[in-house]
Amino acid sequence: MAYNLLKGKRGIIFGALDEKSIAWKTAMSVHAEGGTFVLTNAPIAMRMGQINELAEKTGAQIIPADATNVDDLDNLVAKAQEILGGKLDFVLHSIGMSVNVRKGRAYTDEKYDFTAKGWDVSALSFHKVMQSLYKADAMNEWGSIVALTYMAAQRVFPDYNDMADNKAYLESVARSFGYFFGKEKNVRVNTISQSPTPTTAGQGVKGFDGFISYAEKMSPLGNASAQDCADYTLTLFSDLTRKVTMQNLFHDGGFSNTGVSQEVIEKFS
Ligand code: NAI
Repeated sequence: MAYNLLKGKRGIIFGALDEKSIAWKTAMSVHAEGGTFVLTNAPIAMRMGQINELAEKTGAQIIPADATNVDDLDNLVAKAQEILGGKLDFVLHSIGMSVNVRKGRAYTDEKYDFTAKGWDVSALSFHKVMQSLYKADAMNEWGSIVALTYMAAQRVFPDYNDMADNKAYLESVARSFGYFFGKEKNVRVNTISQSPTPTTAGQGVKGFDGFISYAEKMSPLGNASAQDCADYTLTLFSDLTRKVTMQNLFHDGGFSNTGVSQEVIEKFS
């Protein structure tokens, strides 16, 4: 169902790798709501992914950018405004990767250059994106910037590994930059803390299948899907949430506030 919520709004969407990606679903939904945008991803991911198909479907142009590279980001921010014909109203940061997870290193056996790389990609990149936008004065007043996070930033999920620390940093950057973006440019910055979702990044976490089923049973409304996340993101990009900023917003079917559910108790009795 489309409401034209984003008619006339322009933005950048990071992180659409394939049709399972949260960013892919968000791009499709933003398009359906009348928004226009540039798609971006790391050059290596564009060779692996199907981003051209998404660009065709949504009438978007693609500008490659490694989100850890400030020159790439400055170029992206400048080109996006040229292509779209003005300043930006929304930005989605949907990027995550842990080298320790990929290489099967336990949290108690981190290789620190892997840790540093994963932190740069998953957490510091959010600061870099916002600093490029801020310095270029690229956001329109009452614009909205969103990044995606996971509840392992607050509570321990052992196999989430160093991504837990990366997400804690990411959420802190949203609050800190949200202050400056709010005060000086009337732009809001939030993170959405999403349910486990079967995407390339999600399925990279050890024990993901058991974990997603557990979360489903624990959440009174069930897990939020990638499409549900796209729908929620639209509300944060729309003019209906103009005073929501510096928040970490749980979008998880109630999981984060549930101690235990009847279904889980039954498994143990
Ligand atoms: P995905 O694997 O489809 O997306 C991750 C994206 O990050 C990919 O498009 C990848 O190319 C991009 N990326 C990696 N390194 C990059 C770099 N250097 N520069 C630019 N882009 C880079 O997976 P998903 O699940 O859609 O992930 C999106 C976000 O949602 C991530 O922040 C993830 O941590 C978060 N999230 C995912 C959950 C899940 O269970 N799938 C749960 C909660 C949050």
